[in-house]
Amino acid sequence: MAIVGAGRLAEGIAVRTLAGGHKLRLTDSEQGKAEALAASLAARTGPDAGGAPLEVTVAGTAEAIAGTDVIVLALPYPEGRQVARDQGAALSGMTLVDTCNPVDFSTFDCLLTSPGMSAAEEIAEINPAARVVKAFNTTFAAALMAGQVCGLPVDVFLAGDDPDAKDKVAALVRDGGMRPIDTGPLRRARELEAFQLLHMTLQGPLGLDWSSMIKLLPLLRFRGILIPNGQWRLFPPGPPVPDGAGRLAISPRLRPRSPQPPQAPRVPAPGVPSVIRKTFRTCSGAGRIAAARARAVAAPGTRLRW
Ligand SMILES: NC(=O)c1ccc[n+]([C@@H]2O[C@H](COP(=O)([O-])OP(=O)(O)OC[C@H]3O[C@@H](n4cnc5c(N)ncnc54)[C@H](OP(=O)(O)O)[C@@H]3O)[C@@H](O)[C@H]2O)c1
Repeated sequence: MAIVGAGRLAEGIAVRTLAGGHKLRLTDSEQGKAEALAASLAARTGPDAGGAPLEVTVAGTAEAIAGTDVIVLALPYPEGRQVARDQGAALSGMTLVDTCNPVDFSTFDCLLTSPGMSAAEEIAEINPAARVVKAFNTTFAAALMAGQVCGLPVDVFLAGDDPDAKDKVAALVRDGGMRPIDTGPLRRARELEAFQLLHMTLQGPLGLDWSSMIKLLPLLRFRGILIPNGQWRLFPPGPPVPDGAGRLAISPRLRPRSPQPPQAPRVPAPGVPSVIRKTFRTCSGAGRIAAARARAVAAPGTRLRW
């Protein structure tokens, strides 16, 4: 994958891409920024930090995009269109991911695109030979860097007219531990961009500090068992399973932050499975926090019903 633009969103996408075991090329109008991001990725997730070897190359735009499978435009709204125009035939047949939110940042009150149009469709019009996919515009960089929210995988909404290009992006998203959601043709980017404008305007009123995520959750009840690696295995397996992998990771960060009275660990009596029961109407944040609390006191193998 090549990421054009080495800013905040690029960092989040890069972290998830490397977590998925993919090679990465970075480019920015300021080479120093791309180099600084490569160094910070290496320090955070590379072999010195106990991670797998990283394959991050810093290059100019033309070199970075040559021969890659997927090119991500992590650029402000006007620059994405400019790169799509400047790179012309080099983008022909390439999967080109548009991440931008064409928000009028002077007012935070509207989009700069004309009604019935999206930034992604503008890029597709400028470079019709590129296979444009809208993705990552509803995921704040903080959510990508965390990799999950409330123990659930990050939802990445996709829109595009080319099924193969969408499949490629979906595979990258999945490899990075997130859940791709295909919203339909590229014109759905209009709703995705408007959706994120709304998400942004709610940051202040809800005190979210750009650390929230748009996620779709079904109303359901499910049961899970805490397995020794600290994850939940749902049973019965299969739907409804939000991450498609048969398990939900519970973030240790969800453990209660306020000081808690010490609790003796629950040790199941031999041969008698210990069961913690809790029933919730939804997979809500409250449910997740309660589950994380339960995890904090439950021994591996404890059955949980909630
Ligand atoms: N940040 C988020 O959480 C988030 C979430 C969803 C979507 N997005 C979207 O993602 C896009 C990037 O946002 P961001 O927050 O990452 O912005 P950012 O931090 O400003 O990063 C953009 C980077 O692109 C560089 N750049 C500008 N023009 C370029 C060009 N022609 N070629 C190569 N590099 C170029 C910029 O360099 P200079 O600073 O030198 O111009 C800057 O380093 C925006 O469209 C935004 O709406 C962001």
